[in-house]
Amino acid sequence: MTRVLGIETSCDETSAAVLDGAGDDVALRSLVILSQDVHRVFGGVVPEIASRAHLTSIVPVVRRALDDAGATLADVDAVAVTHAPGLVGALLVGVSYAKALAFAADLPLVAVHHMEGHLFATALDAPEAVPPFTALLVSGGHTLLLDVPAWGDYRLLGATRDDAAGEAFDKVAKLLGLPYPGGRHVEALAERGDPLAVRFSRPMVRRDQAPGDADYYDVSFSGLKTAVLQAVRAGGGDAAPDDLKANIARGFQDALVDTLVEKTFRAAREHGRRRVVLGGGVACNRALARAMRTRLADLGATVHAPSPRLATDNAAMIARAGLFRFERGERADLGANAHAALPIPGLR
Ligand code: KG4
Ligand code: ZN
Repeated sequence: MTRVLGIETSCDETSAAVLDGAGDDVALRSLVILSQDVHRVFGGVVPEIASRAHLTSIVPVVRRALDDAGATLADVDAVAVTHAPGLVGALLVGVSYAKALAFAADLPLVAVHHMEGHLFATALDAPEAVPPFTALLVSGGHTLLLDVPAWGDYRLLGATRDDAAGEAFDKVAKLLGLPYPGGRHVEALAERGDPLAVRFSRPMVRRDQAPGDADYYDVSFSGLKTAVLQAVRAGGGDAAPDDLKANIARGFQDALVDTLVEKTFRAAREHGRRRVVLGGGVACNRALARAMRTRLADLGATVHAPSPRLATDNAAMIARAGLFRFERGERADLGANAHAALPIPGLR
């Protein structure tokens, strides 16, 4: 059994977690997530403010995670920290702090890729959400469709050609006058919308696409965003009536969800997978999970979506991915750095 302390500071959540485990048999002992509310005022994450906020909260957040687990540093076997991708200044706070902890307590350090963390998050809720599976990672910065025959072996099938799914939600939220981050507000508004009132075309989805085509698995959301902008303007912009805004939100969400479901269905079918794992903040979207379950049932495939707490950024998933890397013998040294962009390890 290995006890891992996980640390996550890649964006606007300061998070720490303690996890015990061996292989896929793990138990989460504690999870502390401190969300930086301040960015709401600016309608988006301000990198410099994020770094400073991480600096003030990292020590109490880690201490609290250890306390909640009834542990001290002496009981920890390894420190896992997100080193990429993300805001470099924000990542650096976690990386520097983790290096200092590892050095002071003489503990091994493991560097974790944030998106690999999202891949592991669902397995913390559902022990059967383990490879082989088809994975759809949908966050504020990434949209990745992967085939996962085994942990650490990631085959990239498709990605977004422009905006990430979460980014599209956030931009549409802004157009509709909703707060940041906008995903859950768009979802709530869409629930009141009429599904037949406003229809947007499904981007990058055509019947004549074949598995070898470059656009068979890729998605694109910038055209959809522009279509939403035009619909809002035509309806009176900010002054558009609430029911029209709800109908537009519904039309947008349906188009985005349909696209993601179709691409994921294709991936699971072509690779003969019976499990689909969703990850990233947009995996909180209940309409997405519902539509995914209905469609994938045609293949006899089960869909696993993480609970909201584990879908959005958190250190539990970093500790979980860190345990996997630790067991493979991977170690980071004190020269470890933060990287704004880096491919997921094991991606082919
Ligand atoms: O994974 P995450 O917490 O952070 C990144 O690594 O980016 O994802 C945040 C994204 C935001 O764009 C947010 O609007 C979106 O996830 N999101 C949602 C929902 N909850 C969060 N999008 C759609 N529906 C939701 N319920
Ligand atoms: Zn994330």
